[in-house]
Amino acid sequence: MKARIWAAAWCAAAVSLCAAADPVVIAHRGASGFLPEHTLEAYAAAHALGADYIEQDLVRTKDGAFICRHDIHLDDTTNVAEVFPDRKRKDGRWYAADFTLAEIRTLRAVERLPNRFPRGAADFRIPTFEEAIELVQGMNKTTGREAGIYPELKNPAFHRGEGLPMEEAFLEICKKYGYAGKSARIFVQCFDPGPLKRMRGELGSELPQIHLISDSKIQDALVTAENLAKIAEYAEGIGPDKGRVLADPELVKRAHAAKLLVHPYTLRRDEIGKGFASFDDELRAFFVEYGVDGLFTDYPGDAARFVQSLR
Ligand code: G3P
Ligand code: CA
Repeated sequence: MKARIWAAAWCAAAVSLCAAADPVVIAHRGASGFLPEHTLEAYAAAHALGADYIEQDLVRTKDGAFICRHDIHLDDTTNVAEVFPDRKRKDGRWYAADFTLAEIRTLRAVERLPNRFPRGAADFRIPTFEEAIELVQGMNKTTGREAGIYPELKNPAFHRGEGLPMEEAFLEICKKYGYAGKSARIFVQCFDPGPLKRMRGELGSELPQIHLISDSKIQDALVTAENLAKIAEYAEGIGPDKGRVLADPELVKRAHAAKLLVHPYTLRRDEIGKGFASFDDELRAFFVEYGVDGLFTDYPGDAARFVQSLR
């Protein structure tokens, strides 16, 4: 009898050890389907909706603050043109790197897309990276659920050219907030492999890193088995445009063979991929059929519910 109980306990332990971890849901720019991207409100909604990770795209101000914006320009997602009409560059764009944090704090964040939150309605502000972390860590405490952060260094080469290099100062902030080592609840992402290599090599960062891969033809060479193995020397995973996975589902297997995680971007309930009957249908394809380890979505609540339904 005793032997049978031990055997049953051993089997249960073995099953739980072998069971694959749940794929992760990454809230793309927060719950950006519902609230203007990269606002504390969008991050709070993402946490409440069950996101495992909440994304912050990062650019720097003239005085070196890291703020949460997708673009080096401010004009698509703020009212900068109204507040500072004379501060555009010759190309007609307003650059975050030309404004101090105090000036940025006078701006309102507005919705980028016409079919979403009414542009200019309500009063949203532009958070710093530190404020975003404090929001996530605060909600981790109040909910008892540990969401991670998923910061992206936006255009490090541009910032270096402006005298605002990103890597060291970024890692300092991560350290200040307790993100350290291989198992920290963070993924650091970048399209440019240079900063990822530098942070892992010269700066000795062990934080998990994701090499983003766009759908541009120029990046096709990155997804060969040989080049994925090279990426694995400085990153824990890849973040491909979702179109790459749709066109080449074997990419997931090749990346896994190179011991890389796969986190495609971006799935949207209001822009379902071609050939899918519903958002759930698309989520099923990525999570179940292609076997990705996580995905970026503007609708983290839908994806979190879908992942739960797979348990
Ligand atoms: O970072 C993953 C995904 O967000 C990359 O695309 O342009 O939305 O930053 P983007
Ligand atoms: Ca991003």
